[in-house]
Amino acid sequence: MNVLLFGNYKGGCSKTVNSVIMSNLLAEDYKVLFIDLDSQMNGTEMLTKKMEDTEKRQLSTKNIHQAIKQEDILENIVEVNENLDLVPGHEKINTFERVMTEKKIYDNQYLFFKYFIEQLKTERDYDFVILDMSPSKSALNIAVMATATHHIVTTTSEKLSVEMIDTYMNDIKAIQNKSPFESELLGISVTMTDPYNAGKNMLQAMTDKYSNLLFDTVLKRKTQINHYTMYGFPNRKQNGELYAKDSVMLRLHKDLRDEILARLGNVTSSQAGDTND
Ligand SMILES: Nc1ncnc2c1ncn2[C@@H]1O[C@H](COP(=O)(O)OP(=O)(O)O)[C@@H](O)[C@H]1O
Ligand SMILES: [Mg+2]
Repeated sequence: MNVLLFGNYKGGCSKTVNSVIMSNLLAEDYKVLFIDLDSQMNGTEMLTKKMEDTEKRQLSTKNIHQAIKQEDILENIVEVNENLDLVPGHEKINTFERVMTEKKIYDNQYLFFKYFIEQLKTERDYDFVILDMSPSKSALNIAVMATATHHIVTTTSEKLSVEMIDTYMNDIKAIQNKSPFESELLGISVTMTDPYNAGKNMLQAMTDKYSNLLFDTVLKRKTQINHYTMYGFPNRKQNGELYAKDSVMLRLHKDLRDEILARLGNVTSSQAGDTND
């Protein structure tokens, strides 16, 4: 089970949008679980906006805050699409440190979510778990980062987002040194917000500095992608036609997905054989 984190402490650099899109694109061939660990819950919004109201009601009782309190992730999973499940976000996830103190988990609270992964490994057959983090350096996010098996550092081509990369990658290294679990920095993914000179110069500087760590695919800003935050991501199960149209528009995201799969090596699907029936 690969646990992917599109991460950066900076906000607004497409972490959530890329996590939502990548979850859906991976779910075309694999079984995927999206865990929303951001109190702003934009990922949950995008993935559930097109759900029926009756299905949406589950979100008040099943979510990440309940999972933390109950120490049980399995009871807090909601199906949102074919091959794609969600642990919905909750604003109270910000009380993570307090809950850890109440539970008397002091020393290794940063490994708390690893326990969830162990539950999932035994009880479910997900090929991918995608974590969505909030934009800040916090005890919660260190725990989120320590849960990932593969890190995809996510940035725009803007100065403030790029400058945060080194701080973020140093913290990944510190976690790798301290944690008993292995993880790998898979690469750096760039979304260009500025296609003009400043953005291009920044991309060149990143290529010089990080060379092979950068994914070849550079994502672009598209109005249709921005609309996902307002109208939700098209549901493949309920509206296959709309999904198919968007799937063409998401050509670059598919290229990135393929690069990620290539860097991961041969990921066999637990769904193999039943996706094209
Ligand atoms: N490729 C893209 N094209 C257009 N808008 C995008 C794209 N990626 C992200 N956005 C928009 O940029 C804003 C920040 O994206 P988001 O994924 O929420 O960032 P983060 O999770 O890093 O804070 C959102 O309004 C989102 O709709
Ligand atoms: Mg986000």
